[in-house]
Amino acid sequence: MTYTLITGASAGIGAVFAEQMAAQGHNLILTARRKDKLDSLAETLRQKYSINVETVSSDLASSQGSEALANELANNGWAINGLVNNAGFGDRGLFEELPLNRQLQMIQLNVTSLIDLTYRLLPSLHSQKNSFIINVASTAAFQAGPKMAIYYATKAFVLSFSEALFEELKPANIAVSALCPGATESEFASEANMTNTKLFKAGAMSAEDVVRIALKNKHKAIVITGLKNVISVYMAKLSPRSVTRKLAGWLQA
Ligand SMILES: NC(=O)c1ccc[n+]([C@@H]2O[C@H](COP(=O)([O-])OP(=O)(O)OC[C@H]3O[C@@H](n4cnc5c(N)ncnc54)[C@H](OP(=O)(O)O)[C@@H]3O)[C@@H](O)[C@H]2O)c1
Repeated sequence: MTYTLITGASAGIGAVFAEQMAAQGHNLILTARRKDKLDSLAETLRQKYSINVETVSSDLASSQGSEALANELANNGWAINGLVNNAGFGDRGLFEELPLNRQLQMIQLNVTSLIDLTYRLLPSLHSQKNSFIINVASTAAFQAGPKMAIYYATKAFVLSFSEALFEELKPANIAVSALCPGATESEFASEANMTNTKLFKAGAMSAEDVVRIALKNKHKAIVITGLKNVISVYMAKLSPRSVTRKLAGWLQA
């Protein structure tokens, strides 16, 4: 039996990945810190779709989190053929005013644990057919982001890393996709102190639509969700970086 591992599955985009992948018949391993939320989602999905769903509590912002999670998967003999690296958070504020520790944890969660988990699970992905990795980046990946400097930089890393891995793993038939949503309804905005920003006031996409697009296009290297976001990324590519970074900073006000 094979499983898809979804990180950050207790809320938002990750919980919707769980719902939509369960509906497609995937067996799932759900991870996040809030075990009660994972367990109740798992129970609902088991009953609704007759699939296997396991839950593992993990703190992927800690330096040992991804290793402990990978060990738990190995100890249980759970073979992974799908990996959705979704867990992540942001925080709005000037770099020098946000707590350093929180920003380092952001890098640990959004970047280091994502790499660590991918590396540790690649042998399992190689041993299965039609394996895939979805790394949740963001439209933030395409320009620098004043007032969210570290968050934007983590997502630029995820995009670059995923594109390179897409090419490296193509001969092995392992699909790698960087999912780039724009503002999306979830717990993210309140966690990142962004609910009152121009970006979120302009409207957010539903997590259901984001995941539907992600799963339909998971064979593509870069998936930008929704026409508005596709246009804004395209415009950013055509504009000087001095303009796009100023615009990104303006949207965080
Ligand atoms: N929403 C947006 O506007 C938006 C736009 C672009 C990209 N994204 C990206 O989408 C991904 C999912 O975010 P979301 O919008 O669904 O946000 P969310 O609703 O806040 O969900 C974040 C998930 O990550 C988990 N998580 C947070 N800290 C963790 C930790 N230390 N260890 C393990 N899991 C942790 C949370 O679970 P626990 O709290 O239970 O640990 C939760 O399940 C993130 O990578 C985010 O950067 C979001």
